[in-house]
This record gives sequence, structure tokens and C-alpha cells, in this order.
Amino acid sequence: MTSAIPRHVSVDASGPDGPTKGLLRFLTCGSVDDGKSTLIGRLLYDTKLILEDQLAALERDSRKHGTVGDDIDFALLVDGLEAEREQGITIDVAYRFFSTPRRSFIVADTPGHEQYTRNMATGASNSDAAVILIDARKGVLTQTRRHSYICSLLGIRHIAVAVNKIDLVDFSGERFHHIVGDYFGFAQSLGFASITPIPLSARFGDNVTTRSERMRWYDGPTLLEFLESVEVEQALAEKPFRFPVQWVNRPNLDFRGFAGTVVSGTVRTGDKVVVAASGKESTVKRIVTADGDLEEARAGDAVTLTLADEIDIARGDVLARADSRPEVVDQFAAHVLWMAEEAMLPGRSYLMRIGTKYVPARVTNLKHKVDVNTLEHIAAKTLALNEIGLCNVATATPVAFDPYTENRETGAFILIDRFTNATAGAGMITFGLRRATNIHRQDLLVDKASRIRLNGHKPAILWFTGLSGSGKSTIANIVERELHARGAHTYMLDGDNVRHGLNRDLGFTDADRVENIRRVGEVAKLFVDAGLIVLCSFISPFRAERRMVRELVGEEEFIEVFVDTALEECMRRDPKGLYARAKEGKIKNFTGIDSPYERPESPEVLVNTDDCSAEDAARRILDALRERGIIG
Ligand code: ADX
Repeated sequence: MTSAIPRHVSVDASGPDGPTKGLLRFLTCGSVDDGKSTLIGRLLYDTKLILEDQLAALERDSRKHGTVGDDIDFALLVDGLEAEREQGITIDVAYRFFSTPRRSFIVADTPGHEQYTRNMATGASNSDAAVILIDARKGVLTQTRRHSYICSLLGIRHIAVAVNKIDLVDFSGERFHHIVGDYFGFAQSLGFASITPIPLSARFGDNVTTRSERMRWYDGPTLLEFLESVEVEQALAEKPFRFPVQWVNRPNLDFRGFAGTVVSGTVRTGDKVVVAASGKESTVKRIVTADGDLEEARAGDAVTLTLADEIDIARGDVLARADSRPEVVDQFAAHVLWMAEEAMLPGRSYLMRIGTKYVPARVTNLKHKVDVNTLEHIAAKTLALNEIGLCNVATATPVAFDPYTENRETGAFILIDRFTNATAGAGMITFGLRRATNIHRQDLLVDKASRIRLNGHKPAILWFTGLSGSGKSTIANIVERELHARGAHTYMLDGDNVRHGLNRDLGFTDADRVENIRRVGEVAKLFVDAGLIVLCSFISPFRAERRMVRELVGEEEFIEVFVDTALEECMRRDPKGLYARAKEGKIKNFTGIDSPYERPESPEVLVNTDDCSAEDAARRILDALRERGIIG
């Protein structure tokens, strides 16, 4: 997942008391009401991170606002920083740094009262541990379950359950144990490696950095002791070597280097490496950096590798050691967290970024979505903003990956909206579904070129798009009649007809329309392969799917015809009486009424039936076919 700070920060490993435990990244989960800001403020304050001038301002403000008498209101510190942040563009996650002699810390904090799933997930994806806050008066809440689930999904293995405001329940051990019992009850299924419950008062500092005298019944660690001692997951450097190639550096004929960052493992000169996807092998010759060559590079190092042999390697390829390779597949199962306002539609093509590779991908099946509050699995057709689902995903070309639970670097991907270029979803791969190498394409003896010779014309898709009643089918019919008269080989695919057979199971929801066009596109592509001019007449209201069909065939083989008849005119014509029924509310999701139509931006042919007859429109389309050399 994307994050504001690099995953790899090297920290001086020797403190005053000998070797330290290095860096811990952790996430705080809870709302301001739970005392999250107060807790973070308290940690920063007690570890003396707050600068003197900030402290002076804080004391002034605390007195002014007077919410906690003469004490310093730590929440003001954190909330003050938050207000500053909110003036910026949008920073979903704030990171704060502090350190003790034993360890350095980066705490990820998502702003605001409501922690939206996507913000929290962004913070969690980079964290080794999480502190889940529970208000001792309220106990385990729905949000506690949500926070815990997201932590587990994003691969956090160690949890501190901070039962805060224990002062408000008279430092009651009984209350604490009751809450802890509740928490363990549901967290068992989440597979955490450790859960450490701690009773504390962020406001008064009990059990935050110093042991409380007021809870003698508690003999576990303070929060800081937990943070200083928690073992992080096997360090990235100890995992198998993975090197996604960022770019190929070829300044002259004598040098060909592969630049990138070692995301996990280590590599030494002389190591045998393979290109994950092709299996091509070579040996690492040099490890080049701006400061000279290295003998060894470790997770987090940005280097350029040169190899002993000239093998095919491109940006996006993953180099691995020959004896421990990632899986390479073009279909896998993954949890997808949706981050866009526009719903995820199975069948739609998104751009996937996995490592340094960009590849078109689609969700082929949404198996279920997960209610993040109850952890229930729910049947669903789409994913809305902040929803999480288990999906089957197919990529246009094979990708190398490790399951997310084994490697958070090579097991995560994002899905990008191909029109807005915004991150639309984030995914965690659970397992591969099919080795890409198991299904091959059969080579055919009679190919497209020989069919073109036999037919005497080139194949193409004539894609008619426009509102219902715009005149698509009428015009397409005339074009086909004329082509047929000239001896061209054609076929017509029409929405109303295809929906009686192949697409009988589909209705008119956004998701069904996407699938409708996907199937029709695949069929049209086969017809093009068969050498035909195929006329497709579908409302096809979404740009994304029209573009998808365009990309299925060659650049000159797709001709988009936009039949641009105004909605009012279509409603006046209403050849099937459908608009009338839609307006009465008897048909739902009717294009133009309560379902959108995205106009083509640059169709090859634009016809406006207000000022030209269907016959005229057909003539213009035939002219366009001639201009493109499809027919003679
Ligand atoms: S598309 O949106 O998925 O491309 P398609 O072209 O296959 O639609 O089918 C559209 C035809 O289905 C319309 O011409 C109309 O006759 C009929 N129809 C029935 N219900 C709807 C609806 N809710 N929206 C649009 N068309 C509908």
C-alpha cells in the first residue's frame, strides 16, 4: 500500500545500553473519545520528545481551555498538530517519531474522530504492532472489532489492548478482566501472534511509561515496556530475496544495470538469481551504488545490479534467488479494500500496481464481502468505499507474488482507476489460483491473415453506443445490409438479442452492465479473429468498458460510433414504451432516467439523428470503413 514514509528507515542499532531493538512501527487505534490523542501525547511527553517551546504553549493552552484543571491536556498537543495537518491537502495518516534508549518508534495515527477503514489500513500496512484503545467504562465496542480485524488483515501480528480511563472505574481489576475476557473471545479467530492487555490511564500516566501504584493487582508490562520489548515479525532482511526492477539502466553498450530497491532478503555478488516470470537465470556480477560497489545489499537498500549474462529483463520484473522463487500466476485470491467513491465492479479493468509492475487487472469474482464490524461474510455484487471483500483477481499478464502473510512487500497491490489515475483499491494476496503456465494458447494453422485474404476485406468491430431508442440498431442494420450487399462477411450483436441467450442471466445494475459488455467484447474479438466485420449495438454506458473492448483488438480494428440522440428525443420516440414505464418507476436503473450514460469523448464517428436520417448516418459509417481501408 502507499504510505507517506518509506518502509525502510535505518536506525542506529547501538544505544547507551548496548544494542537496541531497532525500530518499531506501531499504529494506534481508537477515537479521540477513547483518549487516543491523550495517550499519544502522554507517550511523547513522558519520553521527553516534546520540544520545550511546544510544551510552554501547551501549558498555556491547557490553562486557557481548562478541561483538566492544572494538568496539561495532552490531547491539545496532538489535536493541535491535527488542525495544522487538516490545512494541508489530505494526509490520511500522520506519523510521529520518538525514541527511548532501547528503541526508536514511529507511531502511525489516523486523524479525526472516525477512523475510516482506508486510512486505518494505510497506517496498518506499515506497522509491526498496534495499540487498540478501549474505554474502560464502555468495554469492547463494534469499533474495537473493526480495528482488530483490519489490523489482522493488514498483517499486524502483535496487539496491545490498552484499557484506558481505568481511573474512571476506580482502577478496578474486575472490570479490566471482564473486558479482556470479552476481547479474547472474539480476537481468537484473528490469528494474532500475541495479545497484551494493559490497564492504563493516559491522562494520569498510570502504566503508560511508569508502573502504577494504584493497580497492584496488575503485574504485566507498562505500555512503553510492551513497545520496547515486543518482537517484530521476522525482519524483512531474513526473508527470501526479492528485487522488483524499477528501471533498466543502460547508459552505454558496456553497462546494463537493473535499478531498484531490495524489498526483502539479501543479495551478494556471485549469487545465482532468476527472473521470476521467465525463469531465466544468471549470476550477480556487481552491486552498484552512488557511493561505490557493495559486496552485499539488504532489504531496504536501493542499488543497481549487473548480471553476468545478457538475459531479458524489463521494468516490473522481479529478481529472486534461484532456490526460493515467488509464485507466478495470472489469477489469485485477495482481500481487496475499496478506497474509491465509485464502487468496485467485477469485470471492469483496473490498472494494478504490484511491486514496480503495472498490469491491467480485473476482479473476476467477488466471493463475499466482510462486515468489518461483525466479521460476517455477506454475499455482494460490488464493493463500496471502505468495504472489504475476498475477490478472485485476474491479471492481463502473469505477476510474481508471495502471499501477503509471508511477505507484505510482495503480497500487496493497489488497483488504480484508469480514468482518474486515483488509487481505487488495495489488495492483500491470499493465494494463487492457477499457475499461469498451466493453460496455454493453442496455435492455429489458419490465421487471421489467411482469413482476410479469403474474405477480401479486413475485420473490425463497429461499436454503436448511445441511449436506448437513439437509433443504434436501426443504423447498424442498414450498415450491415449494405456491407452484405458488397459481399462482406458480417455479424450483428445487439443488446436486446444477446440478452435473450448468452447474457440471459444479466440485468441492468452497473455490475451486470459491465459483465454484459465484457462478454460481448470477448465474443466480438473472436468474430474479428474469424475475419468478420462485427456490428455491436449496445447502450454500453460506461467509458471504462468501451475502452476495454477497444483494447481487446488492434488499434484500427475498433470503430466507435456514438449515436448522439438527445434524451428528450429518445423519450419522445420511446419505441418500446420503456421510458414511460421507467418514469413511472416500474423499471429501475434505466439509462438516462436513474442510471448514468457517460458520453464518448472522441468517437471515430459521431452521428446526430436530429439532423441526419438513418440512411445518411449509415453512409457516413461506410465512408469511415473505406477511409480506414477495411472495405474496398
Ligand atoms: S447495456 O447498458 O448493458 O449496454 P444493452 O444495450 O445490453 O444495455 O440493453 C439495452 C436494452 O435493454 C434497451 O434498449 C432496452 O430495450 C432494454 N432495457 C430494459 N431495461 C433497461 C434498463 N433498465 N436500462 C436500459 N435499457 C433497458
